[in-house]
Amino acid sequence: MNTDNPQPLKLEESFKLEQEAKQYIAGFTQTMMKKPEQFAQGHFPVYLKGGKGSHVVDVDGNEYIDYISGLAANTLGHNHPVVVEAIKDNIEHGIIHSLPAPIEIDTAKTLTEMIPGAEKVRFFKTGADANSAAIRLARYATGKEEIITVGYNGWHDQYMFDTPGVPAAIQKLTHRMPLFTPANEPAILDLIAKRKSSLAAILLSVPYNRELTKEFLANLRETCNKNEVLFIFDEVVTGFRLAQGGAQEYFNVKADLVTLSKGIAAGMPLSAVTGSDTLMSQMEALQVSTTFGGEMLSLAVCNAVLKEYQRTDYIQRIAQLGALLKTEVNAISQQLETPLEIVGYDSIPMFLFAKDPEEHVKYAEPFLAEMAKRGILLRREVNFISGAHTEDDINFTITAIKSALTSMKSQGLFTKTSQNSKGQSL
Ligand SMILES: Cc1ncc(COP(=O)(O)O)c(C=O)c1O
Repeated sequence: MNTDNPQPLKLEESFKLEQEAKQYIAGFTQTMMKKPEQFAQGHFPVYLKGGKGSHVVDVDGNEYIDYISGLAANTLGHNHPVVVEAIKDNIEHGIIHSLPAPIEIDTAKTLTEMIPGAEKVRFFKTGADANSAAIRLARYATGKEEIITVGYNGWHDQYMFDTPGVPAAIQKLTHRMPLFTPANEPAILDLIAKRKSSLAAILLSVPYNRELTKEFLANLRETCNKNEVLFIFDEVVTGFRLAQGGAQEYFNVKADLVTLSKGIAAGMPLSAVTGSDTLMSQMEALQVSTTFGGEMLSLAVCNAVLKEYQRTDYIQRIAQLGALLKTEVNAISQQLETPLEIVGYDSIPMFLFAKDPEEHVKYAEPFLAEMAKRGILLRREVNFISGAHTEDDINFTITAIKSALTSMKSQGLFTKTSQNSKGQSL
């Protein structure tokens, strides 16, 4: 692939399938973040055919280095041998049985060894499922009903209000709080104290535009303790990514309940709630149940990939590669006087062109088109380094970003009034 003089992508098959999908699938596809309007519509593949390692091929035969990484689910890349072998080894036993399978116990045990404070585990299928179960448990254990949510936690009524169809009565029980700047932090701590008599829990996933501090999380922990509010750490993305033991280990903080998905089974559909025996045992009293929670292939893959995470330097590697990408790209962007900046956690590089979301999209959309032409699939903001990315992939990506930014600059896409993500004029 020539990054300096890339040819327009041929995407006919993608566009043909897109039209067909619109006829048969309500809302075009199952995942909001995979819709064409999330990328660079008309200049970006819509359908992928397959993938191996860090590379994917679209239905028109174009090949890319992939940083979407199955929206963080493909922690080890596409079709990792450990995942494939675990499926092959187990499929002969069936997929789901009529009674529980022993693999539930093995996998739960492995998870308790890895996740700080996890004495008991309960498996589900999606991140939203796990969060809803944790909230029900928190409400029961505290006898209180309100919750605070921070970040994206899933599509269920109690944490997703950017849509019609959510009853006002449910919205009233949830306080949604931003955490994009340190200035947002006191309001969260104050709210916990103010609502303590009716607040069951805070459900928090980290923002990606900056690293939270250990001090804030220690304060949050202490404030929750003081006010008898449970701290549920939504580690659907940060689990198996920031550290082996997730964000709890990374920040040296203990949550009451932790929810996990995405990397838990490196692409197979699985999620979990973990916590202390005392708390998790109270789930016994609740109606919390799902047919596919004990589906054996995902559990077998989970058990195998958790051991792979423990056996290898995967966590350090994704952080090192992400740090290389961030350092080099930020230096190039500064040199070229373009507004792009990579911010946030090393293994979760967030690409930011501007503070203002509309201004950001104005640049991010053509940037994604330029990058796709150069053989790289990126999301507009948050991207994910996987264990399959290599230093060569990162270096190729850095070269492609330099070429894409240069091309955008020569097309006059960056105006004199462009500001970077810190709001500074360029
Ligand atoms: C932090 C976080 N929590 C929860 C969820 C919901 O997970 P799911 O889509 O599996 O329901 C997501 C999904 O992207 C997420 O990023």
